[in-house]
Amino acid sequence: MTLPKVYVGIPIQEVGLKLLRGNVDFKVLEKNGVPPRDELLRDLRDVEGLLGSIPIRVDAELFDAAPKLRVVSNYAVGYDNIDVPEATKRGICITNTPDVLTPATADLAFSLILASARRLIEANAFLRSGDWKVWGPELLVGQEVAGSTIGIIGMGNIGQAVAKRARGFDMKVLYFSRSRCPEAESTLDAKYVPLVELLRESDFVSLHCPLTESTRGLIGAKELRSMKKTAILINTARGPLVDPQALYTACAEGWIWGAGLDVFVKEPVPLDEPLLKLVNVTTFPHIGSASRIARDGMAIRSAENLLSVLQGKKPRDLVNKEVWK
Ligand code: DGY
Repeated sequence: MTLPKVYVGIPIQEVGLKLLRGNVDFKVLEKNGVPPRDELLRDLRDVEGLLGSIPIRVDAELFDAAPKLRVVSNYAVGYDNIDVPEATKRGICITNTPDVLTPATADLAFSLILASARRLIEANAFLRSGDWKVWGPELLVGQEVAGSTIGIIGMGNIGQAVAKRARGFDMKVLYFSRSRCPEAESTLDAKYVPLVELLRESDFVSLHCPLTESTRGLIGAKELRSMKKTAILINTARGPLVDPQALYTACAEGWIWGAGLDVFVKEPVPLDEPLLKLVNVTTFPHIGSASRIARDGMAIRSAENLLSVLQGKKPRDLVNKEVWK
């Protein structure tokens, strides 16, 4: 029996590869990195499945190069790297990896909240540089997290997990989302408010919505100007939700107190990005889901989704449900 051909364009964990062995005939990209576009397109000529992730742009050009393609399994919960309407038009299934990375990503958002508010990265550098000569009342004073107000934009799984953590810190939870979340309102006492009110009232504004044409540039100069001078913006979702020039000015000129960023418009972020020069901007290299449990879970889930489609079963995490008849 000939096995369906698959291209694994990201070096996923062994726990995922193990599931593929014996079920599909696959080639895997050995090292982190984006395969050169022409090589990638050549490798896709005969494949029925692609397991990819954020660095691989999946669009009409790619679909044209892969006429037998039936499924693109994204090793990520976000799928803004994929032209989903185009896939749907061609009857190609798109899947993602929700749930397994929720706790890790919420933990990371909370790490950014604490690190930014309490100036932890700056404090670590200060100590190691030998500048710590004497303890003093104003030494590295930051913002208090406990008892403050958090505004969550996007109350999906990750937004709710952040809200749960915030309640553990006695924070008041405001949220703005595409749709109301009755569960968060009843169990976490989260209050749905218009975006303008959320921006005006929150001490921390944390982004957890997907990147779409309607959320691109959601936070720009006007929004940043409406925030408290003591507020901190946290972004663990997608870089293009925020206008980086406006954020730079806001943090440099004190419109807001600072920002904590795990994601950027261009990734890896170029070292001459002005935001990296600011001490009140805490930055991580897109590691929201980088826990052992989450990454293994993503490998398993993306392999399972891919296999399901190729074996004629409806995948658990089908994004474009309308393709499954
Ligand atoms: C995702 O899954 O969308 C993250 O950004 C990477 O884990």
